[in-house]
Amino acid sequence: MPSVVLVGAQWGDEGKGKITDYFAKSADAVVRYQGGNNAGHTIVVGESTYKFHLIPSGMLYSETTCVLGNGVVIDPEELIRELDELEEQRVETSHLKISERAQFILPTHKWLDLRSEERKGDQKIGTTGRGIGPAYRDKIIRIGIRVADPGDRSRLEHQVKHHFDEHASRLQGCEWTAQKTIDYLVKSYERLKPHIGNTSEIVNEILDRGGRVLFEGAQGTLLDIDHGTYPYVTSSSPTAGGACIGAGIGPTRINVVMGVAKAYATRVGSGPFPTELKAAVGEKLQKDGHEFGTATGRTRRCGWLDVVALRYALRTNGMTHVALTKLDVLDDFDTIGICTAYELDGERITRFPSRADELERVKPVVEELAGWKTSTRDARSWADLPSQAIKYIARVEELLGIPVALVSVGADRNATFARLAIWEGL
Ligand code: GDP
Ligand code: IMO
Ligand code: MG
Repeated sequence: MPSVVLVGAQWGDEGKGKITDYFAKSADAVVRYQGGNNAGHTIVVGESTYKFHLIPSGMLYSETTCVLGNGVVIDPEELIRELDELEEQRVETSHLKISERAQFILPTHKWLDLRSEERKGDQKIGTTGRGIGPAYRDKIIRIGIRVADPGDRSRLEHQVKHHFDEHASRLQGCEWTAQKTIDYLVKSYERLKPHIGNTSEIVNEILDRGGRVLFEGAQGTLLDIDHGTYPYVTSSSPTAGGACIGAGIGPTRINVVMGVAKAYATRVGSGPFPTELKAAVGEKLQKDGHEFGTATGRTRRCGWLDVVALRYALRTNGMTHVALTKLDVLDDFDTIGICTAYELDGERITRFPSRADELERVKPVVEELAGWKTSTRDARSWADLPSQAIKYIARVEELLGIPVALVSVGADRNATFARLAIWEGL
């Protein structure tokens, strides 16, 4: 029952889509376990670029079962759009399975998300505006609408009316009515019905027969509702434990937790970011790394690799390996920084503070390494890397105490190489 949880080790956009695709070719299932279409996962195959928001990044392999687990929030319009687009591109879609227990994001949730951000003003989180927070809120207060619910129309009518009553004061001006929402959900349900089922059962059965399952995290550890830089976080649990809850598997099923980390750091939206570089170096990272959000097109904030935060991610997730991405973006720097500690109010610390205000105040202690000033884009093995790049990775491994198992040196599917066999070793 080999299983790998792939988790974002930073603030999202680490290249999880690309690494998922790398594993998916030899996986029996790829499972999304949390989040929704706030995610944007990119896979580049030659001239074609695929941007998945909801659909798991294993979808390009027709033999791989792709699952949207119970922990995911599903905007039906967006999911249907992604399915239609894939079908237009003649990509097989019958291997997509959707949990009957997953929650729907309603159009009103998107409205509520935007209004909530407006009310927060300067304190806004910088959400993706996809209705993620309001959908999870309704789930937690037990008034959410699950994927199987439109199968019983009279019950659905009752649920949707309840939703509108609950949010009446905040929905003034919203064009969506209860009746329109009911019709929309029933229509979406009919379109999605062939894909809907008990996905916990599907995933457990694959594991029972010795199949390989990859759990594809969305967002990242530092955006986790509990473990992230609260309140500047998302509303789900991207950390490895979230895979159990969001897919309906037990913790004993997980063999490997691979943290995907960029060779530097980025963040979209508001919130503390200790190693952020605002001047020329930050701009160069942003330009060389094409750091624009896949979901919203927003510019990503950039800075040096933060090992304090990575160690925290390692512990929170029980990370066993690292997939280091975007190494090539560092190709043209004279020196490369790694943050190894923080200074907080004059004291040197190596812990990752829980409070956002403390994290706002910390100053990074940065170790400088020599750059390699040559392209790594064509490297396809460890031996192809320049010696300074090897030193850089070795230093990251030394600071973390776990191996960098995969290295990514370009957006294309082929620009990845493994130093350790993962599936084969399980
Ligand atoms: P995800 O949300 O973690 O799946 O990451 P995104 O897809 O949002 O952002 C990662 C971006 O970097 C995408 O545009 C990828 O095509 C690109 N990318 C992934 N790995 C590499 C890499 O090793 N080098 C470069 N230059 N780009 C990469
Ligand atoms: P992937 O899976 C980067 C950020 C938003 C905002 C905060 C809350 O592509 O790595 P939300 O809409 O979730 O309520 O927004 O979380 N955020 C992401 N940042 N990558 C993502 O996903 C993100 N999903 C949400 O920018 O700061
Ligand atoms: Mg992304």
